[in-house]
This record gives sequence, structure tokens and C-alpha cells, in this order.
Amino acid sequence: MTENANAWSAEALEANDDVASNASSNPTMGDIIAVRMSRRDILRGSLAVSAIAATVSPLALAAGRAEAAPMPAGSTFNFAEIVAGVDETHHVAKGYSADVLIRWGDPVVAGAPKFDPQAQSAAKQAEQFGYNCDFVGFTPIGEDRGLLCVNHEYTEPNIMFPGYLGLATQTKEQTDIEMNAHGGSVVEIKRASNGKWKVVRASSLNRRITASTPIQFTGPAAGSDRLKTSDDATGLDVLGMLNNCAGAMTPWGTWLTCEENFNSYFGGTLPTDHPETANHRRYGVSGTTFYAWSRFYERFDLGQEPNEPNRFGWVVEIDPFDPTSTPKKRTALGRFKHEGAANIINKDGRFVVYQGDDQAFDYAYRFVTDAKVDLENRAANLDILDEGTLFVAKFRADGTGRWMPLTFGKGPLTAENGFNSQADVLIEARRASDLLGATKMDRPEDMEANPVTNKVYLMLTNNTSRTADQTDPANPRAQNAFGHVIEITPADGDNHARPDFTWDILLRCGDPSIAAVGATFNAATSENGWFGMPDNCAVDHMGRLWITTDGNSQTATGRADGVWAIETEGELRGTSRHFFRVPVGAEMCGPYFTPDDRTLFLAVQHPGSGGGSTFEAPTTRWPDFKDGIPPRPSVLAVTKDNGGPIGGQPKQS
Ligand code: FEO
Ligand code: CA
Ligand code: CA
Repeated sequence: MTENANAWSAEALEANDDVASNASSNPTMGDIIAVRMSRRDILRGSLAVSAIAATVSPLALAAGRAEAAPMPAGSTFNFAEIVAGVDETHHVAKGYSADVLIRWGDPVVAGAPKFDPQAQSAAKQAEQFGYNCDFVGFTPIGEDRGLLCVNHEYTEPNIMFPGYLGLATQTKEQTDIEMNAHGGSVVEIKRASNGKWKVVRASSLNRRITASTPIQFTGPAAGSDRLKTSDDATGLDVLGMLNNCAGAMTPWGTWLTCEENFNSYFGGTLPTDHPETANHRRYGVSGTTFYAWSRFYERFDLGQEPNEPNRFGWVVEIDPFDPTSTPKKRTALGRFKHEGAANIINKDGRFVVYQGDDQAFDYAYRFVTDAKVDLENRAANLDILDEGTLFVAKFRADGTGRWMPLTFGKGPLTAENGFNSQADVLIEARRASDLLGATKMDRPEDMEANPVTNKVYLMLTNNTSRTADQTDPANPRAQNAFGHVIEITPADGDNHARPDFTWDILLRCGDPSIAAVGATFNAATSENGWFGMPDNCAVDHMGRLWITTDGNSQTATGRADGVWAIETEGELRGTSRHFFRVPVGAEMCGPYFTPDDRTLFLAVQHPGSGGGSTFEAPTTRWPDFKDGIPPRPSVLAVTKDNGGPIGGQPKQS
């Protein structure tokens, strides 16, 4: 293991997320002395533990918890919880199967070559399933067929390539393999009569998008001088998408795939007096790169192409039903380290996209289209994301909040502050939000609206950099190692387009048996049921919340990442149950339900990462467990052995 190879662990990349690049002086509300306790904390009385006064563990009060905790009376879920822990394979609740659907290197494009890790090439990789699958979306074509849309977030050369010695000796061919292992895959899948899904290998809809695929800019920033480079004098055409993390599907069957940590691909240096230097600093574009790409491609060298980083950090919309379509970077949704783009049609017909910017002390956003969605006319929706308003969230101490518009000319977003157009506001959405006084959050990840209740759930992974005087009611814990989940109620209970909302903390995560942690799981939660580091989430068609995690490990929490099912209403609100866990080194991504809730797609990202893993000696060889085959990031299809919805039907009492 070389020093360079050591940089290639998921931990190293996560540590990068936890480093703030927000130096603005927005109040963190640390001056607010009376920390607001959520209404439900007060209702729960002594079972509630605030971060400030954590003296009693709520679980110390829970009686009779065994490893296989019985389903609490009144639960909306009905499955036997798994035991938390870490080993070299995955585990799913009894009575369910988790089948590997597609792995890194499996053929995607019809006729693509078989995977051979000893003889991988860039040409092969361009037709095969990419590395580190993250978001998984599914859009149906009838009852038992559909298109799977999968993000490939990043690459780990020390596990991908035999004999890898580090960035300094990485070859151009290895670099091209990496570039082709980024982006996304569209794969047609079909369900057999036994309920199991299989890839349709010959489908003409199967497609790869890579770090070199031609993509168009659309919306207010398209054509901006700040998007122009030597290769593109128009500022309209860019090659590739980078670090696509989470995403969403739209009701018209397109795929929104979100560029997250794009900063780490750029090497080289830029003079401190260059007009883009401060902008790049705000996005963590420092020339410190985790990749060798800038050695082979000038566009990844800041000194050569100072505008190239402005061409990443966007939401990309792809029509998976047209494999010849050009993907579009929808600039109206703003430029930041996008986690996801979960969405809902508002009751007035407009389309609302909720978005997190995953960095310590960065913000939560919402985009509202000008036009209404027309579900009778697909074509009418295809460019609907180009016109609308981007907002950033302010969480007030009294439990109310406000979505503040990022509109050129409004408030401080003027030439006086260096904004000369809406393009400038969108390219520098973070700085615009700083000036508006948005609330600095503990790494906003997925944000998902529950179509049954209209509540919106915001995952906040963690932020160990927050000091005690930087805490605020929406980010109440200093050195927040385990994250929390905020529940937002839109205005009128169901109006996602209005500027006002109320909010509450659903969960403070971490081990509830350690009082100082200040976790607030419901006392009905078993010792397997708690988790740290919420990252992605999904809501099933009964309106039940499922959370996946990124950052649990033997050392961090004594458990692997996985899937937990969360009660959100009634006496059991805040109760969590463990449904699935990943092999060592992996994080849990995906979660996406088929419309019938009979399948849950999950992505196991970076299995075997960290712990000194190399191609030759990984900590696991999941899922193949064959000598010479490294661990392979894979998408799983989870089904219930006797059929029926994932998580079971609520027990009739
Ligand atoms: Fe790529 Fe924020 O997780
Ligand atoms: Ca994520
Ligand atoms: Ca993650």
C-alpha cells in the first residue's frame, strides 16, 4: 500500500466532505441562548435527551430488549430485525432475498465484453457497468419491465487495478478506465414469474454515460462566459459528468443525476488574483486532487482551464427512453455539491425539487418550476426545469423556517456584490446563499418529500467541525459525529411552493445507550435498531421512511452501514429497525422501491474500501468471493420470499 493508494479510501473522501469551505460569517444562531427543544421532545418528557443535557440514556429506560426484538405493538412494519455488526458479506431480514442484479464490469451495452479484471481496458469499461454505484432509480415499462438508472460516483484504483502503485505511476489507460467507470448506466431489467429481476442484455435502451460523454448546458447559466473553455467557445457543451452521487426520477420518466464532489478532480494551480480563485476556494477547488486525470487532460488542470470547474456541480437530466438523447445540465437548479434531487408535484401543479449541498456548514435548497407539470403530455415537461426559482433554507429557532429566493437583483444578489446576472448567482449559489444568511447545516444529504403525508425529510450526515458556540436549534450538537434527521412541514401542511415552513428534529442519531451522544431514538428501538450517519432515504408507497447510511463501521459505531426502517407517526415515532447491512468497507446507497413496493433496489458502494485493501489483498471479495476477483460495487434487488411489500404490511390489531 502506497501513500497515494491510501488516499483512495472512502474514509479519505468522507473526511473531505467534513471539511468546511464556508468561511462566510452567517450567524450559526450560537447566540441564541434558549435552545429550542422540539415539541415532541417535550411531549416525550424524560425519554427525550437533548444534546445539551444528556444525562440519561433513553435506552437505559427500555425494558426487555433482546437481539431479535419483537415488533413493537402498533408498528407499521412487520419484519424480523437483523443483528447489527460487520463482516465480509451482506445480511437481509429473514424471509427476504437480496440478489445481485449487476456488478462493476458486467456488460451494459448490447454486445459488451465480459468482465476480466486482469485485462480491463478503457474501451471495455465504456460498455460495462461503472464503478461505485450510488443512486439507483427505476422507471417502469409495464408491470414487470423497466429501466434501471444508476450513478457511478467515483473510482478506487488501488482495488480496481492489479499491481497499482499510486497516482504518480498511474497510466493513461488506467486513467481512461477510471473516466469510463464514472457517470451512469441505463439498464433494461425484466421480472421473471418467480419475482426475480434480470438484466436484458440485448436491450437497445442500455446505455453508458461517462466522464467524456457530450452534455449540453441549459437554463440561465448556459452560454455564460464563465462556462467557456479552450474546447468550448460557446459555454454550451461540456464533456461528461463527475462524482454523480444521489439523484431522482421525475414523474415523466427522466433521470436526475447529481454531481457532488467535483472539486477533487482538478490539479494544477491558479494565481491568487485570478477572477475565479475565490469562487473555486468556496467550492474546495484547490488543485489538491485525488486523481491523476490532470496529468493527461489539460481541462483538469486549473492553470490551463480555470473555467472548467464551473462546468461541474450541476444536476443532469437524462431521458433513459432515448439512448441517443444528449444529457442536459440544468443550470437553473444551481451549482453546488449536489446530493439528490427528490421531487414532488405541488398541489398547484408546479414541480418542486429538494436538494442538499453535502458539505459541512453548507445549505439545503429547493427549486420550484414556473410551469406546471402536464402528465398527459410528456414532451411538455422535458425542459420544464430550465425556468423557475431556486431557494435556500433558513431554519429559525422558533421552529419556523423560510425558503429565500436566489434571484439576481434581489436583496444582496447585485453587481455591488459581484453578481452581474442570474448565471453568476447560479454558478456561485453557495456565495449567494452566504449573503442571504442561510442556515449552515451538518452536511445536507438526501431530502425526500413523503407523497402520503407531504412531510419532507432531510438527512444530515454529520459535522465534527461544529463547535459548541456554533450550535443552533436545527444543528444542535457540537462535534456532531453521528448526524440527525430534520422533518419539514410545508406551509398549509401541503404547499411545497410557499416560502414558509415549520420544522422539527425527527432523530438525533448515534448510540442511545451512551448518554453523552445525545441520541433521541424512541425507547422502543432495539440495540440493533439505532444507526449513525444518515445519508440517503426512500419513502415507500405506504408513506413509510427508509434510511440508508454512510460512515458506520466497526470503529465508528460497531456496525456496518445499512438500511433502517423508521416510524414517523404516533407513539412509535422515532423507532428504527435494522433491515439490511453491507459487507465491510461499503456504504449503503440506492434505496429505490418499485411502484408495487415488492422490490427494493439497493446499491452496495465501495465494498472492501479502506482497511489497507488492495486488488491483491482486499478485506472482502464480495459478492463473487473468488480468488483473483476484487470486491465489486453492485446493485441488489431485495424481494420478499413469499411475495408482498418490502417491510411487510402493518399487523392488524
Ligand atoms: Fe456522495 Fe453525500 O454522498
Ligand atoms: Ca450519498
Ligand atoms: Ca455517501
